[in-house]
Amino acid sequence: MQPPDPRDLAPAGLAPVDPYVIVLFGATGDLARRKLLPGLVHLSHAGLMPDYRVVGVSLEDLDDEGFREVAGQACEEFSRHPVDPALWREFAARLAYVGKDRGPGPLAAAVQRAGAELGGSPRVLLYLSVPPAAATAAISLLDDAGLAAGATVVTEKPFGTDLESARRLNATLHEVFDESQIFRIDHFLGKEAAQNILAFRFANGLFEPIWNRVNIDHVQIDVPETLEIGTRAAFYEGTGAYRDMVVTHLMQVLAFVAMEPPTALAPAPITEEKNKVFRSLKPIDAGRVVRGQYEGYRSEPGVAGDSQTETFVALECEVDNWRWSGVPFYLRTGKRMAESARIISIAFREPPRSMFPDGCGVGEYGPDHLTFDLDESSRLSLSFYGKRPGPGMTLDKASMQFSLQDVDREKDTLEAYERLIRDAMAGDHTLFTTADGIERLWEISTPLLESPPPVLPYPVGSWGPDAVQDLIAPNEWRLPFARRWRELRISSV
Ligand code: BG6
Repeated sequence: MQPPDPRDLAPAGLAPVDPYVIVLFGATGDLARRKLLPGLVHLSHAGLMPDYRVVGVSLEDLDDEGFREVAGQACEEFSRHPVDPALWREFAARLAYVGKDRGPGPLAAAVQRAGAELGGSPRVLLYLSVPPAAATAAISLLDDAGLAAGATVVTEKPFGTDLESARRLNATLHEVFDESQIFRIDHFLGKEAAQNILAFRFANGLFEPIWNRVNIDHVQIDVPETLEIGTRAAFYEGTGAYRDMVVTHLMQVLAFVAMEPPTALAPAPITEEKNKVFRSLKPIDAGRVVRGQYEGYRSEPGVAGDSQTETFVALECEVDNWRWSGVPFYLRTGKRMAESARIISIAFREPPRSMFPDGCGVGEYGPDHLTFDLDESSRLSLSFYGKRPGPGMTLDKASMQFSLQDVDREKDTLEAYERLIRDAMAGDHTLFTTADGIERLWEISTPLLESPPPVLPYPVGSWGPDAVQDLIAPNEWRLPFARRWRELRISSV
């Protein structure tokens, strides 16, 4: 019996994808090991990959077998799903490796070999999992190897390090690729929960009418991480929290929260609305930014003893348009903080309270909030004041909560990179960023990048420097939550 054509395995409604040779630059790097290689294995096991081969490229001196070992260890350490040994062997057989220093000839030959194994005329996906400084050299190498024509190219964030370098990188890309070939990735847009913001806002009649400055007091996008720098000092020292997380992930999420309804959930209309948000963003006021550095960062291997790189940043920004003018957006993220979380919290304006008796508790626990958790279970919570049972009128804060676990669909969730790799192979630009949008974000960042406030130390395991409380006052950060998310209750019939 013939094995099934992998293109027939895609679930109904998903466009089949042609066979691909994936050329993975940065194949032994942190991102490839944590996300890309385990992601390809999972996509493959889930029947969502076409027939494919992977040619890994990086600075390490490895052969195919050595690369398979690196990939095997990575999948063991980072796969979200147990990897069946037989399926692993099947995946490993698809891997080949070429050292970057070997130049264009051997790279072209390896891609040709992989293509011949697939047969027919497979497509080529060039994945540039490299820091901004290495992107130009990778593009030249691909061009010299004759791999650019007709290929799909995925570029990692951050796209450049400021407006000037982003423009240069874009010009370099356009010398070799047509815009339609380019997929600028920001993996937060591939998160199920980020896309759920669009579904929640635009597929329901309840919230959109109140989604504006009349009813919303402020918005928080808060992504603290307990994670340390680990082996990434070389990347992180030249990047810092603002470029790594804010101008990229947090701003993209902000656009989903703030954008006007697009005319269709298609690339051009979504991009148009997101870019309108970016155009309405006021330049970042360095006086409304707190930069922090965790204590001990300067002793991490590879970090300068007098490093001014921020491992924490919190700031206020404003979308100056008819929907949002006057509503502060507070953004915060950092490494080695007290907890890891990824939340968006919408604080609604408080109602008049004078009808309630003194001391009854109304307003005591802050405004009512709608909170999105960007974790895989896409949790949502709407908090509100309700009456405490019994005599009198005492009010407590309560919440209505949803989690994907409740609908038993969590297992269908694709990790963000998995979703985006598949979209890129299918030629779908919807969840990718554009040069215009990115350049505008660098433009509004210029005042901060040119005159950054000093980095303030903060203890490992904290919520950042104390100044972060003044930044948001008289409001308060939602995290840490006063009430935990509810655990899933398994209902018995
Ligand atoms: C990456 C950043 O893009 O996103 C990392 O470079 C960060 O510093 C990571 O830790 C967070 O992504 P996630 O999906 O784990 O929330």
